[in-house]
Amino acid sequence: MTKEKKYKPFIRDDVSGKIAVYPGTFDPITNGHLDIVHRSLEIFDKVIIAIAINHTKKALFSLEERLEMIRACFPDNDGRIVVDSVDGLLVDYAYTKGATAIVRGLRAVSDFDYEFQLGLMNRRIERDVETVFLMTGLRWIYISSSIIKDVARHGGDIGGLVPDHVCEKLRNIFMM
Ligand code: COA
Repeated sequence: MTKEKKYKPFIRDDVSGKIAVYPGTFDPITNGHLDIVHRSLEIFDKVIIAIAINHTKKALFSLEERLEMIRACFPDNDGRIVVDSVDGLLVDYAYTKGATAIVRGLRAVSDFDYEFQLGLMNRRIERDVETVFLMTGLRWIYISSSIIKDVARHGGDIGGLVPDHVCEKLRNIFMM
């Protein structure tokens, strides 16, 4: 017997295949994030990289710059990667896009508590969207967008930690 859903506020986009949303602030995108995107594409047919508009986090890069930097990471995009922004509840966005999963990268045990909270809250709001955790690649376990900005600000070497065009942008800002 199929269980009747009591409350479905949104109409889902017409979709085919397994879709995941990979959300984040991406200020800026790092090679650690890209590693998660590439590995997600091994599991899902389409990955929507969604920049979450966070009104409490002061970003270095504007939303347009972040969208552009992420898009530039995929010059040969065959449509399996979509870059977008989300202002509002992530699970509502994921649901309307027809996504069955939200992908998050776990770097260390310290990420776990926060991610567990997010995952459980999202599940409480929308049971049709699962949270899938991927272990961040060992090479990227210690990086975050803030650490990279801080190193760049102080003239340190960030080569190999972010895509070249992001490195260039950071260099221009901090005049390295
Ligand atoms: N490689 C490198 N760095 C990584 C990483 C990886 N694989 N995974 C995470 N990080 C870093 C990020 O660079 C970021 O660093 P920063 O804090 O220095 O900027 C940090 O981990 C946090 O990750 P991020 O993915 O940007 O998460 P967030 O905490 O800023 O945002 C959202 C989390 C977007 C999922 C959450 O705020 C959200 O869902 N917002 C929408 C509104 C909503 O639905 N709220 C209710 C949620 S229950």
